[in-house]
Amino acid sequence: MSNLPKPILFALLGTVVVALIPPVLIVRMRTTKHSLPRIHWIQDMDNQGRFRAQHANPMFADGRAMRQPVAGTVARGELRADTHYNHGVVAQAWATTFPRQTRVTPDLLARGQERFVIYCTPCHGASGYGDGLVNQRALAVMGDPTRSKGTSWVEPKSIHDSDILAQPVGQLFNTITNGVRTMGSYESRINVHDRWAIIAYIRELQKREASASADTRGVDRADRKRVGEPDNQNEARQS
Ligand code: HEC
Repeated sequence: MSNLPKPILFALLGTVVVALIPPVLIVRMRTTKHSLPRIHWIQDMDNQGRFRAQHANPMFADGRAMRQPVAGTVARGELRADTHYNHGVVAQAWATTFPRQTRVTPDLLARGQERFVIYCTPCHGASGYGDGLVNQRALAVMGDPTRSKGTSWVEPKSIHDSDILAQPVGQLFNTITNGVRTMGSYESRINVHDRWAIIAYIRELQKREASASADTRGVDRADRKRVGEPDNQNEARQS
């Protein structure tokens, strides 16, 4: 090596140093973290001019880049044309029968009971007398002026009241779907099928309680509770 002319020696050394640059860069890129995406050699149509969500677009009269669906658009599976099933309405009146999609079977009743226990018993009680834990607690608070602080409490209705017994199933469906007076809507939490299942179970509860109270005729609801008659809640849980 030492007998090589100096310019050639320097040229060789320079070449080695320059040749080391790419591998050093590659190693560095591979071992460090970057917030930018990797180098994009072939663009295809990946990067194009576009309007981002919530940005303005002067091309449209309303100046918005995001477009509204055309009026009357119905999303797939969202056409609720069957008013009986979806709204409990037949020929502009509350449906008096279950829709054809809902066959009242033991399975449906079991589902209805399960949903009723989850969503309705806290207020209406396991047997539907309106004596759920939320109501008991509210009444206890209301009875104590230092805790009630001027609020009011509307008691959940008993599903065995004569006016509720007389209601067609479609009206019960509407109550669950849209709520009623101080009771809120359960539309977002209970799907249509489960609402019908709950109603089937309510009808069952009503029938059961009607035949039970035929045995204890003359003892009204308040008396039954006062004398500590078979606890309604346990009755429903056992069945
Ligand atoms: C948070 C408490 C609460 C829950 C939970 C609740 N309700 Fe109610 N419900 C009420 C109250 C309160 C009323 C009485 C509303 C009024 O008179 O202002 C009522 C009234 C009703 C009525 C009578 C409607 C009428 O036409 O008078 C029915 C039927 C009913 N509820 C069914 C249900 C069903 C079914 C569920 C379960 C899906 C349920 N409720 C869940 C509080 C509740």
